[in-house]
Amino acid sequence: MRDLSGKKVFITGTASGIGRSTAISLGALGCRLFLTDINEDGLKKTSEMIANAGGEVCMAKALNVADYQVMSEFAKEIHNGYGSLDILINVAGIALFSQIEDMQHSDWEKIINVNLWGVIHGIECFVPEMIRTGKGGHIVSVSSTAGIIGLPWHAAYAATKHAVVGISEVLRYDLRKHDIDVSVICPGLVNTGIVQTVDIHASQKSKEKLQNSFIKFAITPEKVADMIIDAIHTRKFLVITSLDIKLLYFLKRYCFTLYHLIMLYMTRVLDKILRRDG
Ligand SMILES: NC(=O)c1ccc[n+]([C@@H]2O[C@H](COP(=O)([O-])OP(=O)(O)OC[C@H]3O[C@@H](n4cnc5c(N)ncnc54)[C@H](O)[C@@H]3O)[C@@H](O)[C@H]2O)c1
Repeated sequence: MRDLSGKKVFITGTASGIGRSTAISLGALGCRLFLTDINEDGLKKTSEMIANAGGEVCMAKALNVADYQVMSEFAKEIHNGYGSLDILINVAGIALFSQIEDMQHSDWEKIINVNLWGVIHGIECFVPEMIRTGKGGHIVSVSSTAGIIGLPWHAAYAATKHAVVGISEVLRYDLRKHDIDVSVICPGLVNTGIVQTVDIHASQKSKEKLQNSFIKFAITPEKVADMIIDAIHTRKFLVITSLDIKLLYFLKRYCFTLYHLIMLYMTRVLDKILRRDG
């Protein structure tokens, strides 16, 4: 198990949810943190929580991960002041549930910009410097169940999250020669800000019904943070946070007919919930 004390860690999406919990846990383990989020107030609160618990936030800056220019400027500041990172954790993301006929082109662009370009920007701004320094490292990217399963109503979200799994799988092998490990996290439902901010293209009543049922089955962001830290310690590649999703993923690979029937059923149920008053 690797000692994380003193490691320089950059984390996106730290104003809330999984990103905040991961930053707090890594702060408690003695990591030197570089934090970002588009939500300035939430980011400030996370930094205060870490500092109050005795952790070290070296730099925190509010920015949009979809903006390459500002991400690369922040990366330069970090590299100039502190050298290369040890660990990069891409967490920031947004969610969208929609039938494709109810989506505007701007919906596709928005989610791809944040969930895919955001992750790419993290990788391109920090990993080449890690390679040049030659000290090894670890990249963690938070994908989703929608990154390994074709969940209904998730076409655009799934496009971004499958891409994150794809990039991670390639880097897992490409970066081995540089002693840089890669993990991709595929959470099921987690009780975070995204449960409220998820953009659902359905009536208000059916949206609320779905959001309430999310909360019933969701795990805590602290639990996901523990799994992220365990993946860094054990160099685990794929982390699926819940047993039901592990089982579904198993069926997809080894018993496709059953998986197919479950997906047909799931689609019918979600259609029924979200189209009821739509
Ligand atoms: N909560 C779940 O059920 C769930 C399930 C699977 C995957 N995920 C993934 O986990 C990750 C973290 O989400 P969460 O559940 O903690 O939700 P969250 O909303 O609590 O946290 C996401 C954070 O990302 C930030 N963010 C959004 N757009 C940004 C942008 N353009 N630039 C910078 N920061 C931005 C938000 O301000 C927020 O603080 C996301 O990538 C999400 O897709 C969440």
